[in-house]
Amino acid sequence: MSPIVVLVGPPGSGKSTIAAVLSQRLGVRHRDTDVDIEAAAGKPISDIFVDEGEPHFRKLERAAITAALQDSGEVLSLGGGAILDPETRADLAGHTVVFLDVSLAEATKRVGLSVARPLLLGNVRTQLRNLMEARRPLYTEVAKLTILTDNKTPDEIADEIQEHL
Ligand code: S3P
Repeated sequence: MSPIVVLVGPPGSGKSTIAAVLSQRLGVRHRDTDVDIEAAAGKPISDIFVDEGEPHFRKLERAAITAALQDSGEVLSLGGGAILDPETRADLAGHTVVFLDVSLAEATKRVGLSVARPLLLGNVRTQLRNLMEARRPLYTEVAKLTILTDNKTPDEIADEIQEHL
């Protein structure tokens, strides 16, 4: 029992977009643990962070991933911080995990952090850079395949993934 493929990567790496393309091509369900968590909690993730804090969110995320990895035949995308949990990294070992890599410049564009407002958004961009640098070794650790998504269309990325399935 296993998802067909599990997509990991930082915010702005295109996990949800690529998962949607792939699941449509394969005619299977796209499951996203962030969506599962929001449905179970009845509120957006941003509210869970504010109301209950990040450690609580990580517990919900851990449980959502355990459940999702037991399902088979779907394309699964995980939240950007899922790989922070050592148990999750261990659980991913037997699965077809693809790391969607992205440069800071491209991720900044995709998540809408304008480079034109350094005073307002510079700090957030620094956080994104730090987060991407700290997590890169963890994404690499769990991945069977790494794809640099800059300058590639969703269809090209999906083609590359399908070649490895
Ligand atoms: C997070 C990324 C988010 C979501 C949560 C935490 C992170 O998912 O799980 O806000 O720690 O990087 P996306 O990667 O889909 O934005």
